[in-house]
Amino acid sequence: MNTASKRDSILAKVRSIPSLPTAATKVIALLRDLEVELDDLLRAIEYDPGLTSNVLRLANSAYFAGPRTIGSLREAIVRLGMNRLFQLVITTAITPFGRQEVKGYDLSSGKLLEHAMSVAVGAEELAAQLGLKAPEETFTAGLLHDLGKVVLGTFVDADAPAIIELAYEHHVSFEQAEAQVLGIDHAEAGAVLLEQWNLPVSIVDVVRWHHEPDRYEGDQLLFDLVHAADSLSLQSGIGVGIDGLNYHASPEVLARLHMNAEVAEKVTCKMLVGLDSLRELFGSGAAK
Ligand SMILES: [Fe+2]
Ligand SMILES: [Fe+2]
Repeated sequence: MNTASKRDSILAKVRSIPSLPTAATKVIALLRDLEVELDDLLRAIEYDPGLTSNVLRLANSAYFAGPRTIGSLREAIVRLGMNRLFQLVITTAITPFGRQEVKGYDLSSGKLLEHAMSVAVGAEELAAQLGLKAPEETFTAGLLHDLGKVVLGTFVDADAPAIIELAYEHHVSFEQAEAQVLGIDHAEAGAVLLEQWNLPVSIVDVVRWHHEPDRYEGDQLLFDLVHAADSLSLQSGIGVGIDGLNYHASPEVLARLHMNAEVAEKVTCKMLVGLDSLRELFGSGAAK
């Protein structure tokens, strides 16, 4: 099969992935509407008891909760705000994808979710450590940045020798090797999937270019936070698969953020602590 037809099969696979559960899709649409009524939002979430209980569990996790227990969705919105609620709904909705074993990248079950959550948590913490206000999309863009691996994994697996040879013998970055052999890399595949799910363009674009800072044209800070958190997560060994060994963080991004060893250490520490609380919530290895 040539590269163009491989790309077509991958895009066909993306199209075959079911949309998110109805309630999550409705909530995403509602939360994109600036005029959204609180009661409509509550009704959309409550329509799905599983989503409701998972959102409440997440809202009460050590990472998100304050000192008092959040007992209802209404309280979650009042205490955490709409943006956090959006993050909780998306996190809950993508958890089944992140829990899968990802062949091709050598990620055992739960590892992709751990990496995703660490980048979401790390990107927000990085902003806090630098005294910057994280853009609203930071957590969600971090969470979703590598989702394309779920789609691409079996294709990478099938063409592993060619991709690995390019990446490790010819020193091409892993995602460029994916693109050369398969006609598409995991970043683009993820972006296409998220477009299909109607996620906001600001998030889709970070996902699409997360390995290519020069081609990204949106909110620079949003991009830099996710890119830098991705590299910190991999350096800490969180969800490192076959591609992690030749990962290159952009020196320009790190310089723009004025990253230093102290900030990196604090962010990494928060990632590990945050991950522990979230892991507790989703079961050991985030795999259950
Ligand atoms: Fe990636
Ligand atoms: Fe990543």
